[in-house]
Amino acid sequence: MKTLILNIKQLIQTEEAPRKWVAGEAMSRLGIIENAYLLVEGDKIAGFGKMEDLDMESVYAGSDTVKEIDASGRLVLPSFCDSHTHLVYAGSREIEYIDKIRGLSYEEIAKRGGGILNSAERIRQASEEELFDAAYDRIQEIAGFGTGAVEIKSGYGLDTASELKMLRVIRRLKAETPLLIKSTFLGAHAVPSEYKGRQTEYVDLIINEMIPMVAAEELADYVDVFCDKGFFTVEDTDRILNAGMKYGLRAKIHANELDYSGGVQVGVKYNAISVDHLECIGDDEIACLLESETMPTVLPGAAFFLNMPYSPVRKMIQAGLPVAMASDYNPGSSPSGNMKFIMSLGCINYKMLPEEVINATTINSAYAMGVEEEVGSIAVGKLANFYITTPVPGLEYLPYAYTANLVEAVFLKGEQY
Ligand code: NIG
Ligand code: FE
Repeated sequence: MKTLILNIKQLIQTEEAPRKWVAGEAMSRLGIIENAYLLVEGDKIAGFGKMEDLDMESVYAGSDTVKEIDASGRLVLPSFCDSHTHLVYAGSREIEYIDKIRGLSYEEIAKRGGGILNSAERIRQASEEELFDAAYDRIQEIAGFGTGAVEIKSGYGLDTASELKMLRVIRRLKAETPLLIKSTFLGAHAVPSEYKGRQTEYVDLIINEMIPMVAAEELADYVDVFCDKGFFTVEDTDRILNAGMKYGLRAKIHANELDYSGGVQVGVKYNAISVDHLECIGDDEIACLLESETMPTVLPGAAFFLNMPYSPVRKMIQAGLPVAMASDYNPGSSPSGNMKFIMSLGCINYKMLPEEVINATTINSAYAMGVEEEVGSIAVGKLANFYITTPVPGLEYLPYAYTANLVEAVFLKGEQY
């Protein structure tokens, strides 16, 4: 089966030769073909180019059926890659939202047993089935917003059984949805209440019991630690990443959200695939990242929702770094997985150009979750994960019209979703 999208006003983020990421000044450039076609065969992109170069005979050669779709006036973009989410969770936390409106900080709410521990209570009580159903609905929601690949973390279980339960839900989502999904073990998200005052013992439990069991069931692709003030120290993080490495789990960490925590440096030391949040990042962190294979990832939704200072993205790009952006979809700090809104926040709050936010939410975020060879751009041989917009004036309109849903059709693995 072939699908041929015709008369595309602009085909965006095209790539002739594969790139692992886009860094520095190149982030403001995109491959764009005006008046283009896109050919899909099976689950892959089979060709693209200018309409005037389209050879209909070769498209129709052989006995395949060809479904033609006219995309006049519309843009086609590769699906968003959302490289950082916590979308398996139970219940919601709008009560804390009110606390925040009344002036409490994220750390104060966490200290009172709210925050992550509040979600942990609920996860422990929920069945695997209930968690799956709620997460499945969120996957449907984000697919409709144009997301085609998503990383999902555990980290609301905080005991062995509940962490494994979350990871099994993610495994089922991988099998039962057409999105490309990566899973991350985040046992070190917070110290659970039963280990209060015994943080090192909890870290021992993660290292000696949780990681071996997660690895034995092959439940995770990555290991994460919330390395920040009031959460896990650099030393805890070092021990956990080291244990993860021994079991083949590459690091992908929460760093420098609340303080200059040393999280970036320890992440780079373990060749983390990404370090995420980065509200607190200075010259040392930038220099360290420049020497690394680690993708700096900012989470504009969490910074917006918590009213935090914004990461110095312009400085990072000027220094020559690549930058990725993800939604951080979770009930506490970012209750939204809408990547188009994340693009708008990137433009408005981080002063990024539309081209830069598209790179940050496609090819760079694909790298940040280890799927840049499969998705993240329009390239022959990559998975046919893309969306067609409604009729729009041009690509700048996408982040500009910041609440409009401009996704008209979604294709995942070559099938219309
Ligand atoms: O990425 N910063 C740590 N963890 C999550 C928030 C989790 C929560 O509040 O439930 C984050 O923002
Ligand atoms: Fe997070």
